[in-house]
Amino acid sequence: MLIARTINDLNSARATLGSAIGFVPTMGALHQGHLALIEAAKANGAKVAASIFVNPTQFGPSEDFTRYPRTEEADLEKLEAAGCHLVWLPDVATMYPPEGATAITLSGPATRWEGVLRPGHFAGVATVVAKLFGQVRPTHAYFGEKDFQQVQVITRMVADLLLPVEIVAIPTIRETDGLALSSRNRFLSPEDRARAPMLYATLRSAAAHIAAGEDVTKTLETACNNLSAANLTPDYFNLVDARSLEPMTIFTAPARILAAAKLGPIRLLDNIAVG
Ligand code: PAF
Repeated sequence: MLIARTINDLNSARATLGSAIGFVPTMGALHQGHLALIEAAKANGAKVAASIFVNPTQFGPSEDFTRYPRTEEADLEKLEAAGCHLVWLPDVATMYPPEGATAITLSGPATRWEGVLRPGHFAGVATVVAKLFGQVRPTHAYFGEKDFQQVQVITRMVADLLLPVEIVAIPTIRETDGLALSSRNRFLSPEDRARAPMLYATLRSAAAHIAAGEDVTKTLETACNNLSAANLTPDYFNLVDARSLEPMTIFTAPARILAAAKLGPIRLLDNIAVG
């Protein structure tokens, strides 16, 4: 596995890989969800590149940038074992040169949900992903559906900026009790970890009720009450159009329920397709 820490190293390594590249951008602290993205890229037959960069611009001032888990050695071992061909590990000065004056601004699917609760988050994500695409020049890029809004934002950005890369969304990988894998799950106390699967259980139940024709507003209200009763504080729990992410009060496919809830010191994010 080739490891590049400078643009020169990246360009030399990239030149050995040929034209078709499947790319998995990450912030490290890798788990089975990331490795499923590597697997999907490998299954597509291309060489596989991953990046590890904890992107400062997607964290708000009161968020956990400094506490975000950094586990480079273990991450490199996992990527090597998974059959990744190239890992790109840029530093902050490479990604954000001091003279930099350009960033991406977003509307559409970035404006609601996480976009409201984490102002600037998606602009940071889109800007860094566009830069990574420019550096790695992948033909395909793989993102997990756990961050469903992120997938829609990046898909929209690629279409709008005419970037020559195909975005591939991969289903969420879960623990056996349903909790979606996330690098931040390690911060859950044992009590909160035991409560956390309630989010996905509630999503499943609400999706089944809505698909069966039950009233959307009432179903979502019951879901929020059930979460609160289990000590999860919902930030949102909404039925949305799966492409625009605009809220719906009457179910029409393709639809998704997007949910975020606070549990102790962390926020759980999850979603489910309806129908
Ligand atoms: O999903 C993530 O880990 C990050 O948002 C990404 C896409 C690597 C950009 O920093």
